[in-house]
Amino acid sequence: MDHIRFDAGETTLILSCGAGSPPSVVHWGRRLTDAVDVADLVRMGTRQGASGSADVALSASLAMEPGLGLLGPSGFSAHRAGKGWGSRFDVVKVTQSENGAMIDCSDNRTKLRLEYRITVDPVSGVLTIGSTLANHGDATLDVTEMATAFLPIPQPMTEIIGFSGRWTDEFRRERLSRFSGGYIRENRRGRTSHDSFPGIILCEASTNENAGEVYGLHLAWSGNHRIRVDTLSDGRVFASLGALLLPGEIRLAPGESYTSPDIVAGYSAHGLAALSRHFHHHVRTSILRPATRAKPRPVHYNTWEAVWFDHDLNKLKDLASRAAALGVERFVLDDGWFGSRQHDRAGLGDWTVSDAVYPDGLTPLIDHVTGLSMEMGIWFEPEMVNPDSDLYRAHPDWVLRIEGVEQIPFRNQYVLDISRPEVADYLFGQIDAILSDHAISYIKWDMNRDLNHPGDAQGRPRAHEQVEALFALIDRIRAAHPHVEIESCSSGGARADMGVLAHTDRIWTSDSNDALDRQHIQRGASFFLPLDVLGTHVGPSECHQTARKLSMAMRAGTAMMGHMGLELNLLTEPQCDLDQLKAAIALHKQHRALIHNGDFQRLDTPDYLNIVGVVAADKSEALWSVAFMAGQASTLPGRFYPVGLDADRLYRIRLVWPQDWHSISSPSVVDALDLLGEGGVVSGEALMTAGMQLPLTMPETVLLIHVEGQAHQSP
Ligand code: DGJ
Repeated sequence: MDHIRFDAGETTLILSCGAGSPPSVVHWGRRLTDAVDVADLVRMGTRQGASGSADVALSASLAMEPGLGLLGPSGFSAHRAGKGWGSRFDVVKVTQSENGAMIDCSDNRTKLRLEYRITVDPVSGVLTIGSTLANHGDATLDVTEMATAFLPIPQPMTEIIGFSGRWTDEFRRERLSRFSGGYIRENRRGRTSHDSFPGIILCEASTNENAGEVYGLHLAWSGNHRIRVDTLSDGRVFASLGALLLPGEIRLAPGESYTSPDIVAGYSAHGLAALSRHFHHHVRTSILRPATRAKPRPVHYNTWEAVWFDHDLNKLKDLASRAAALGVERFVLDDGWFGSRQHDRAGLGDWTVSDAVYPDGLTPLIDHVTGLSMEMGIWFEPEMVNPDSDLYRAHPDWVLRIEGVEQIPFRNQYVLDISRPEVADYLFGQIDAILSDHAISYIKWDMNRDLNHPGDAQGRPRAHEQVEALFALIDRIRAAHPHVEIESCSSGGARADMGVLAHTDRIWTSDSNDALDRQHIQRGASFFLPLDVLGTHVGPSECHQTARKLSMAMRAGTAMMGHMGLELNLLTEPQCDLDQLKAAIALHKQHRALIHNGDFQRLDTPDYLNIVGVVAADKSEALWSVAFMAGQASTLPGRFYPVGLDADRLYRIRLVWPQDWHSISSPSVVDALDLLGEGGVVSGEALMTAGMQLPLTMPETVLLIHVEGQAHQSP
């Protein structure tokens, strides 16, 4: 078979995979009709001979290996003691199934086999591409570079949207024009990172949220990565993603193999938000556990910002009682319950309940929580150890380090080498005991430092194996306790990716609970991750991270558009705020099936606004969040043009949040459409085409607008 073709959603993928040639992409992008002949595509792509270039056309391949002689960016680098470096992988076998294919390639000269596994999501058209390299030679192979795949991107995609950020400001986007040479993002932090989310978007200059062609690629991996967009000197464009390998990290003995992290890649002809919907569908249907999706996501109360390390049973019980009274459904006990962990300088690694703080154990608190009909959750940071801990005193050799080099100080903690079986066994035993002995159904799995010196006791780098060991450890705990849900947290959102989501159930999006920051962060996260996995919590009246004071209406309205939770001291916040919070939780529950399952929408807006929404699959209703981030330049704000509704249907439009709100002057659209009362009934066409004037409001206000389809009138 010379070619394989997949048509799914709005995407067609055609791969050239004739035996004896390197595998390559003939077409990835806009869906083609059956009338398009693959041979025509190949002929139309004939390379022009050019002076100063090789006399033959040099083909690209999925691997971009040195044996191609292409002299562009490299995707593959391996050798055996300095020899056998020039691999070229030719297809030997293709196995096609309905939604995917396996392409086996080999290089008989360097005695390597390379297998590609490609699946195509039948609804969203999202591709998942994985690759495995096997050493069939008789000597050890050093792999220094292996991108999972190189994918060609059409030249009209002249813009790159990359992701940057920092602690409490994750998922920042940077849009720039593509240029000759390589755009490269490398992450060496040993976790997904705050500052380089492993995703990249390529689009036309005119592409916006709801129009234009766009490609998005993500590396499903929680460790070091390299992302490239290369514009070759002949104008061809390639995007590639792969794990970034440290020297000596992947050494394959004869018979051994290395499997790269998967690339998850999508395409849309209908703008950035449509691309995000494809990814959301894929995460929901192919990555998350069906059991997690089957149950409504419970509203959380997380103790961290209420008590920090100051745990006191009576206070925690009071907090739990107040949380339950507000409508909270899951109580998560954060850092500070174990060992000598009364501050961040001691105790990590000693995962037994602190006798000093909980003389009768955790059961009195858990009984109280479950007695209030809430689920109980608990915090762990399994990969870490404080030097001041019983674990470190007993096993100082268990930590990652570079021998002879001082540890880099980082939150007073070192990283355990969890790829060592005895370390993984210890951690499994400790976590298993806590889960077996208590009615706990949720873990917040934290990870609070970079891997600066990720070397093992033998002097080998272990950053890559550390991530594989993490996934294996989580899977082992999941297998032993399948009812326990796990949240991936890493100083906020430094471990938020589709790799870890295959092993967990929720992401802690950011340590910033500042609602203005959160508007940006949640919008950024939504490019690849659906709202149902994003932990979105209501912080205190004065934000701990920014000292900004935002209204409860703004804070709660922002947290409602995700997996809602609370992160504030319910014993000290003003009662009027708590009353409003209770109403917000009730409203979130009323709409959470829509928020967590609906089709996500983002609108293009001026900087003073952030507008996102969710529309039911059958277009019967929608919930829009309109956040006024700052004051507008003009007298009035602009109009609101929702998308995704049924133009032919009548909709009742109402302002459902804030509930005691009114426009700051009148007359107003609020009165004209009775937005705070019965709501106005208008057609989908009128709403989407003419738009509704937004009411004049104060900056730092979020309005939630519900749009409900009216019963079709009988003729
Ligand atoms: C970092 C997390 O992001 C916080 O939510 C909290 O769990 C702390 N760690 C606890 O140490």
